[in-house]
Amino acid sequence: MDRQNLELDAAITDVRGRFLKDNPKSAARHEDAKRALPGGNTRAVLWYEPFPLTLTGGKDCRVTDLDGHTYVDFVSEYTAGLYGHSNARIAAAIKAVADSGWVLGGPNPYEARLGQAVVDRYPAIERVRFCNSGTEANLMALSTARAVTGRAKILAFDGGYHGGILTFAHGGSPLNAPYPFIFAQYNDMAGTAALIRDQAKDLAAVILEPMMGGGGCIAAKPEFLAMLRKETEQAGILLIFDEVMASRLSYRGYHGMAGIKPDMVTLGKYIGGGCSFGAFGGRADILDRFDPASPNAFGHGGTFNNNIFSMAAGFTGFTEVLTEAALDRMNGLGDELRDGMNALLAERKVAGVVTGVGSIMNLHFVDHEVRSPHDVEESDPRWLHLWQLEMMLKRQYVTPRGMIALSLPISRTEIVAFLDLFADFLDGYRSILPKRT
Ligand SMILES: Cc1ncc(COP(=O)(O)O)c(C=O)c1O
Repeated sequence: MDRQNLELDAAITDVRGRFLKDNPKSAARHEDAKRALPGGNTRAVLWYEPFPLTLTGGKDCRVTDLDGHTYVDFVSEYTAGLYGHSNARIAAAIKAVADSGWVLGGPNPYEARLGQAVVDRYPAIERVRFCNSGTEANLMALSTARAVTGRAKILAFDGGYHGGILTFAHGGSPLNAPYPFIFAQYNDMAGTAALIRDQAKDLAAVILEPMMGGGGCIAAKPEFLAMLRKETEQAGILLIFDEVMASRLSYRGYHGMAGIKPDMVTLGKYIGGGCSFGAFGGRADILDRFDPASPNAFGHGGTFNNNIFSMAAGFTGFTEVLTEAALDRMNGLGDELRDGMNALLAERKVAGVVTGVGSIMNLHFVDHEVRSPHDVEESDPRWLHLWQLEMMLKRQYVTPRGMIALSLPISRTEIVAFLDLFADFLDGYRSILPKRT
């Protein structure tokens, strides 16, 4: 092992030791959790070494842990926490439901109003149906595409993430839903077009995030999206945009911003106002197959599809809190943060780049352009691990994979403070971080 390698290992041992010393109650809670939950975990993304912090509360853009520390929250519940942790209007909507009763077993006054708001805002969504999660929304969209087209295969992108059982990083998961998937490389114009043409007669759908979130916050090139629209349209293949994360990057959704009309769009995360949520929508002629009064209607059950907490909190958040101005402000602050981090990396001559769009971004320690998840595979994960734990010790709550998501309550004050601490991190570890060539 060379010296830099040894120093990096020593730095990791040191930061883990300080993290453990700082968080004895979280460490003990994690050990205890292992008795009932495998590895103490029930949600893969929330696990990291040496143990995840236990969170006990949140206010605006801050979260508190079991050991009593308060953090500025740059995880924002992996984009679902867009409204922060204590929005008063959403809290009132939830309280109103709690006061008037829930699990009622019938349509409620909120679901169609939320549906209408979604239809009014997103150009490609002419009709919408609700479900319980982004995973479920994507499963429904893919199954719908297969039923509507009578074709079996789905084209997805290497390294993409569309849910717990639709995960295509590192060769995919053995638990993935057993659709016959074929894979292309994100942003590969020629290769993807050739694959679509070659497989056209068997392809029901092409599914992608217009900006990959879990895949590393990598935006599709506009010409790539335009090519996908043209090729799928010509071949009668449904184009599905997974906007579970990306819809929050523009008031009219990512597709509205990009000026592309996919056949179907899936939604999730923040749209439930902080309660469980998923939705799939799109062309009226496709979605109207779900009209129970129509001949040969597709059935679509789900006990909590219209969960009154999600519908009420979602409607209030979407229509009263998420104004165009508020969204633009948050995404503008995200651009400032990303530009600021990139400037610091360049000044310090560290090989790193922060990718993303607006309020969602990802730090990668690589020395080249990032066009697809493949471009970040070689990066040593120890650098991000060191970054995460150091930023946590500085009371900035960040993700293990380098992803950052803002929430509406974050202001420029938090952004400026984060940039100062990021500069300190780069200065402190310059000798063991990768060098820019
Ligand atoms: C792009 C994308 N699609 C789908 C999902 C799955 O959503 P859920 O976790 O609600 O099932 C996620 C979750 O991270 C996501 O980021």
